[in-house]
Amino acid sequence: MAEFTLRLRRFDPESEGPAYWESHTVELAPHRSVLEGILQARARFDGSIGIRCSCRAAICGSCGVRVNGEPGLACQTHLDAASAGGRNGVIEVEPMGNMPVIKDLIVDMEAVHWKKIRSVTPWLLAKQPVPEREYVVPRESMVDVTQSMACIQCGACVSDCLAMEVDPLFTGPAALAKAYRFVGDPRDGEHEERLRSLAEDEHGLYTCTHCFKCVDACPKGVDPMGQIMRLRRIAGNDMGIEDRNNGARHEHAFVENIRRNGVLHEADLLPDSYGGKLHPRGLPTLLGSLPVVLKAMRRGKVSLGKILGHPHKASREVKAIFAAVEGRAERYELNLYVSGRDEDASDAPTKPNTTGARP
Ligand code: SF4
Ligand code: SF4
Ligand code: FES
Repeated sequence: MAEFTLRLRRFDPESEGPAYWESHTVELAPHRSVLEGILQARARFDGSIGIRCSCRAAICGSCGVRVNGEPGLACQTHLDAASAGGRNGVIEVEPMGNMPVIKDLIVDMEAVHWKKIRSVTPWLLAKQPVPEREYVVPRESMVDVTQSMACIQCGACVSDCLAMEVDPLFTGPAALAKAYRFVGDPRDGEHEERLRSLAEDEHGLYTCTHCFKCVDACPKGVDPMGQIMRLRRIAGNDMGIEDRNNGARHEHAFVENIRRNGVLHEADLLPDSYGGKLHPRGLPTLLGSLPVVLKAMRRGKVSLGKILGHPHKASREVKAIFAAVEGRAERYELNLYVSGRDEDASDAPTKPNTTGARP
């Protein structure tokens, strides 16, 4: 047994007062979980501490909180590790972010998380005609969606998503990972409709800023950011679906900029993102950015020469990289969730390795 100090963020909606911190010392074996610590504090000191939990085994996804500022499952976080990571050994527990707090450590998952999950039609829309018996699906296809199927809807990724913090309308990591779960499933007959619907939403695929927060936050290795990138590639590259968010064109402009120049020539990036210097879509934006450009020129950060021309041309090496990547017969996809080797080599998937060892 050891003693651990828990510093809990409390909020009582009925008191009309602000949220506050409250500390309790609990006594438990070091390998026991932060959730058990909170439950002990509730049983011994204050029966009004609000925490949502059920399975206590990292399966139901209900005990999502932030421990020492990091989102995760209270039942999966050991007291000794949390104490080692806390300031002066104190374990700070607060409710998840990006969702309204109902009471203490309980957030309103319905207001944000579930609403967004529902927006991606989170069920299979069966390909027609439905076979008389079961669908026979290539094994590697199911390996591909296993990672997104592992989601337990805990909301940890939503809690830490930087894009959602800035744009609450963003569909978000959990819902987009759920969207890939069906776009990657060969039994689903509405892949294109699903992707078109995501592409029509300005707060969809391209609002993600690749910050990796959701990847780190996820207790189940779902890699929501990776699923978002897959959706982008299937929508944009494979199906030629134009996204309403200018991020899609911006991404393309980056690639073409490097292809041409070898290094990033920033002055071209903005006009290219809007289809070129004279494109009607780009002109208003370029005119709008003139004051910033003039200011930068006055301060010597850019010159007219640099804006209109530059000495760089892509080197042979850069061209070779483009040729190697674009010359591949199939896109290389990594599913980092599935680990291990196939023991029966003859039964192994023939696609380029879609599985990889999880670190
Ligand atoms: S990688 Fe994208 S989806 Fe994930 S947390 Fe960052 S902005 Fe959000
Ligand atoms: S993707 Fe991971 S972090 Fe996000 S809700 Fe699912 S299990 Fe939780
Ligand atoms: S209580 Fe079920 S995941 Fe923690």
